Amino acid sequence: MERPDNLIIVIFGATGDLTYRKLVPALYSLNTQKLMPEKFALLGVGRSELTSADFRKKIEESIVTHSKEIGYNITYMPDFTAQAEYFKIDYASGSDFKKLRSVIEALCKNNCLKGNLIFYLATPPSLYEEITTPLSQSGLEVPSDGFRRFIFEKPFGYDLESSRKLNNTLHELIQEDQIFRMDHYLGKESVQNLLVTRFANGIFEPLWNRNYIHRIEITSAESLGVEERGGYYESSGALRDMVQNHLLQITGLTAMEPPSSLEADAIRNEVLKVFQSLERIKEEDVESRVIRGQYTASRIRGEDVQGYRNEKGVDINSKTETYVAMKFFINNWRWSGVPFYIRTGKRMPTRVTEVVIHFKQSPHHLFEREPGTLAGNQLIIRIQPDEGILLKFDMKEPGSGFNIKNVNMDFHYTDLADIKIPSAYERLLYDVMSGDQTLFSRDDEVETAWKFIEPIQRAWKNNPSIKVYGYPAGTWGPEPSNSLIEGEGLTWRYPCKNLADEEIYCEL
Ligand code: NDP
Ligand code: BG6
Repeated sequence: MERPDNLIIVIFGATGDLTYRKLVPALYSLNTQKLMPEKFALLGVGRSELTSADFRKKIEESIVTHSKEIGYNITYMPDFTAQAEYFKIDYASGSDFKKLRSVIEALCKNNCLKGNLIFYLATPPSLYEEITTPLSQSGLEVPSDGFRRFIFEKPFGYDLESSRKLNNTLHELIQEDQIFRMDHYLGKESVQNLLVTRFANGIFEPLWNRNYIHRIEITSAESLGVEERGGYYESSGALRDMVQNHLLQITGLTAMEPPSSLEADAIRNEVLKVFQSLERIKEEDVESRVIRGQYTASRIRGEDVQGYRNEKGVDINSKTETYVAMKFFINNWRWSGVPFYIRTGKRMPTRVTEVVIHFKQSPHHLFEREPGTLAGNQLIIRIQPDEGILLKFDMKEPGSGFNIKNVNMDFHYTDLADIKIPSAYERLLYDVMSGDQTLFSRDDEVETAWKFIEPIQRAWKNNPSIKVYGYPAGTWGPEPSNSLIEGEGLTWRYPCKNLADEEIYCEL
């Protein structure tokens, strides 16, 4: 891998959770691997009153706190933090953007940087137009062989209409090849491994369709609550925060047809086709097909945990959902009639993301089973943690008769000695610096994903009587979500931190 060209990264919303928890540790890790440009500067921009020295200190703290957890080396820190500056802005002020331009120009000049710029919008999406408009008109000269790239965090807009408007406005200001719509799940190694599992192994493809698959379940659970992000989360909720982007992208990669190549557009075209085939849930069916919930106060492992409504920045009467589970179909030849079940939630028993392919039962039951033991074959693609793949199948228990036991065949990424899985942001930031858009969402993909979400948003808005079920923090969400899975004896899988384990409450 080559070092990208010299550049400046300007992060808007630089005082936020994303910057300290994910972006800074990722940039730092790239720097230690010599995958940052030889010369670069990091300019944090925000409304908060900070000096550059304060910002450097916060960066240092965030590297210590968040990099250590994933085993990064921290010896190069002084070199890295020395590249950072902070600029306080009022987004409504034209003169502040002019000052920002001078700061950028000075940084370019003093560091002998070429003038390449990456603008990272790590703010709520309501600010995307407000920030991009003055930036694109700021008169900053683009070097003839250089670039200006804009990264937009998800969610890209709030609904179909706002995402369309945002796309239209951005297209008037900048070119599509300058736009990187970030969905960090696409940068996860194990998400990309979905493509390899499916299309590098000849054994799966013949089975990957309605003839052999009974249902598909995708779970993305978090044990944390909203932490300090109440302000952002109140305007988002789990549907916008996780379903419209991360969970639908995973669905896309699980369900897509083989792409003609690994080119960015070849893959995005196939994901788009899946989104276009998603059967929109009718407004009147939303109540029974989409379950929303909100965590309530509880005790987890001996500690009191507050409910969502008592979190900082959250309305005490809030109806924002911290949990969503739904059932839907993909109307195409491959998937017709196969239900997809997805669920996501905060304050669940463990942090886990995985795709479970449930294969159909064998057509003839030659062997007796205990009632309720319908396990059959499942292929579990574990996205995090304990990344890997697990195949569950039946075998004979030794001894007389034909007693059946469901057993595991599993591969864990940790079995590959000396391999450190790079964080999603490491991979994606490197791709933006190198100008590779493969792992970023395209305008039509994002809009089509919103189209699927729209009737759900509309139903919730128009029918306040649709319940937001409470669930005690530390549990697997509201009870009614169990009724989504139809079929005698069928339930959600209750995954544990370790890929091979399964139980209802098993993080511990
Ligand atoms: P935060 O709530 O921490 O907000 C980020 C920063 O934006 C704040 O520090 C604040 O900085 C500024 N900001 C917040 N609200 C407003 C407002 N109404 N007007 C102007 N500025 C505001 O959010 P995150 O950092 O968690 O998330 C930012 C984006 O990144 C979101 O789009 C989110 O979806 C996405 N994201 C976050 C992840 C995470 O783990 N946190 C992971 C993946 C994506 P200041 O007041 O100093 O200007
Ligand atoms: C972000 C959401 O996009 O993804 C957060 O805004 C969520 O609410 C996060 O916590 C989860 O990411 P990961 O990589 O920790 O699964």
